[in-house]
Amino acid sequence: MARTVDIGADTDVLVIGLVTTDDGPAVAPDDAFDDVLSAEVRAALAEQLRAVGAKGKAEELTRIPAPAGLDVTSVLAVGLGSADKLDAEQIRKSAGVAGRALAGVGTAVTTLSGLDLGAAAEGFYLGAYTFTPFRSGKSAPKPDEQPVRRVEFLVPEPGFGEEALFRAQSTAEAVATARDFVNTPPSHLYPAEFAARAQQLAEAAGLEVEVLDEKALEAQGFGGILGVGKGSSRPPRLIRITHRGGAKKVALIGKGITFDTGGISIKPAANMENMTSDMGGAAAVIATVLLAARLSLPITVTATVPMAENMPSATAQRPGDVLTQYGGTTVEVINTDAEGRLILADAMVRAGEDEPDYLIDVATLTGAQLVALGTRTPGVMGTDEFRDRVARVSQEVGENGWAMPLPAELRADLNSKIADLANVTPHRNGGMLAAGLYLKEFVPEGVQWAHLDVAGPAYNTGGPFGYIGKGGTGVPVRTLIAVLDDIAAE
Ligand code: BES
Ligand code: ZN
Ligand code: MN
Repeated sequence: MARTVDIGADTDVLVIGLVTTDDGPAVAPDDAFDDVLSAEVRAALAEQLRAVGAKGKAEELTRIPAPAGLDVTSVLAVGLGSADKLDAEQIRKSAGVAGRALAGVGTAVTTLSGLDLGAAAEGFYLGAYTFTPFRSGKSAPKPDEQPVRRVEFLVPEPGFGEEALFRAQSTAEAVATARDFVNTPPSHLYPAEFAARAQQLAEAAGLEVEVLDEKALEAQGFGGILGVGKGSSRPPRLIRITHRGGAKKVALIGKGITFDTGGISIKPAANMENMTSDMGGAAAVIATVLLAARLSLPITVTATVPMAENMPSATAQRPGDVLTQYGGTTVEVINTDAEGRLILADAMVRAGEDEPDYLIDVATLTGAQLVALGTRTPGVMGTDEFRDRVARVSQEVGENGWAMPLPAELRADLNSKIADLANVTPHRNGGMLAAGLYLKEFVPEGVQWAHLDVAGPAYNTGGPFGYIGKGGTGVPVRTLIAVLDDIAAE
């Protein structure tokens, strides 16, 4: 078989996949790239790997010197688990682990592309992601800690899979954009700066952009965004970015709280620093509309993104204050820490004016999401059919969103003694669902709606796993783009 890259002296590492079999580890795929990995070399590799204890278990890493006949410095074998359970997500995860392990390497070549080029490429790119702009020379990554400079993917013939590669690269870059936004600390990313950076990216990509500053928000009655933002010296923004690609219209909304102290209903000090991630929904929808444009999706996608910093101060809103959401609904703010729903409601009503067919909102909305589903499983709520579709697509791409109900009986607990709504229920039961029910009040009539609560999944406070590192994960960018694809294909 032909290949487009040569394995030569400047190639540091060959990355191969290993599956488990009854007879020990086997190199996968077992039928591609014979000219690089002849049957003999393949057998020698398996033999040597077996000798050092490799099993081929999912994400296991084994590094050995290159056997005779292979012009590379070393071979990195990454486990893929059992061959019959091998799917795109496992390839992505294994490639991610390998991508991370290649730190310090110049050029790597991999045969994982023979299993699934797109998944392998996505995994390597995502796994190799690092975020270092805030490290001075004192802690900057040493040469052996820097991400792999170049990964070459073996393909059966020149030009093979170019589209899959473009897609994988574009998608991974969008995920990296979302991660970068989340990882940028609140000292440096506040509403005006966030909006300016998003505007700059969107204009560079030729998209339509509109930014409302605090005066425009005031003039147009965005009471939710203004109420949440008024405790901060750094005023709120609303940014709208449109990719115009066709008649069908999708509205994306993302929660952009650049830091959530809780406001006057202040959060405890422990782990409050993680609230730098409270704009993860905004980051994801901004990255997604940019990606939709890059992939020229034949639909119209508008991201409507409210941005505010939730701070306690002499100008902050108080528990008990009443504000008027965009569109006129009055709300008694019982708890200033339930701020996400207040900014999202304004944005949803505004997005409804475009008469979208679908509306998807994404938010790091509730601690209750973590209690219900853990750190890696987004909660998906909304109108029944579309909710199930989004959850299915999310599972297909490995982001694993899970459908959750919006129990009607909880709705009455959002009634207020003096306003149309209260922003919280008087109890903690079904906290993620109660937040969803609050948002449901603002879904435009007749629009198919999905609400993704990614409080845990957007930000990894633990160690790296698969293609996910510490910090911003970029979840749910890959779900969103897959849903947009699915809608475009209708
Ligand atoms: N941003 C938080 C939710 C959150 C918690 C995100 C943990 C990521 C990790 C949100 O604004 C919040 O504070 N929600 C409250 C709602 C409550 C007051 C009804 C919560 O979950 O405690
Ligand atoms: Zn919040
Ligand atoms: Mn909060």
